[in-house]
Amino acid sequence: MKIEQLAPAHDRGTFRCGIPSFDKYFRAQAGRDAAKSLAAVFVGELASGKVVGYYALSSATVLLPDLLGNGQRLVSRYPALIAARLTRLAVDKRHRGQGYAGVLLRDVVARLQASPLKPMALIAEVQNEAARHFLEHAGFQSFSDQPNRAFRALQ
Ligand SMILES: CC(C)(COP(=O)(O)OP(=O)(O)OC[C@H]1O[C@@H](n2cnc3c(N)ncnc32)[C@H](O)[C@@H]1OP(=O)(O)O)[C@@H](O)C(=O)NCCC(=O)NCCS
Repeated sequence: MKIEQLAPAHDRGTFRCGIPSFDKYFRAQAGRDAAKSLAAVFVGELASGKVVGYYALSSATVLLPDLLGNGQRLVSRYPALIAARLTRLAVDKRHRGQGYAGVLLRDVVARLQASPLKPMALIAEVQNEAARHFLEHAGFQSFSDQPNRAFRALQ
């Protein structure tokens, strides 16, 4: 699988991950968000041209007490830290369980760590229990006061 920035040539029409809002976003909104720099959208594509997964990132800030509440020892003079928001990460249902999500997530982390701003944390919204298990397995933990948001320290 190669991972590249979303472009008009990518075939988004047949992508189905099982969460209708994620599919609709990918088909109808992701291109516009990327064009307006509202989101960075990356696509995982097989050599055949089949799009098997995608992720969308946007910027965020996170309050230090929110992270400290989960026992993280992050030291900063500033109450708010730069973070990145993983707004969506999805793999087509027909290609699940083959490691593609893991590869996409590693790509997210590598890109963020290589960026000059180096966000301190990656934040994700927890859509359902399966997503929670996936995110926990990938090292995310829930905010103590917001069970449907999770974060993973990046530094
Ligand atoms: C969650 C999702 C991305 C997983 O895709 P996938 O291709 O099946 O995942 P992978 O095969 O790459 O698995 C990567 C790792 O996550 C684990 N994993 C995958 N789904 C899991 C789940 N539901 N619960 C716990 N662990 C899970 C795998 O065991 C694997 O672990 P390993 O690296 O230790 O072997 C996919 O089910 C999906 O698109 N769901 C709908 C969208 C969604 O909920 N996204 C969540 C994040 S925003």
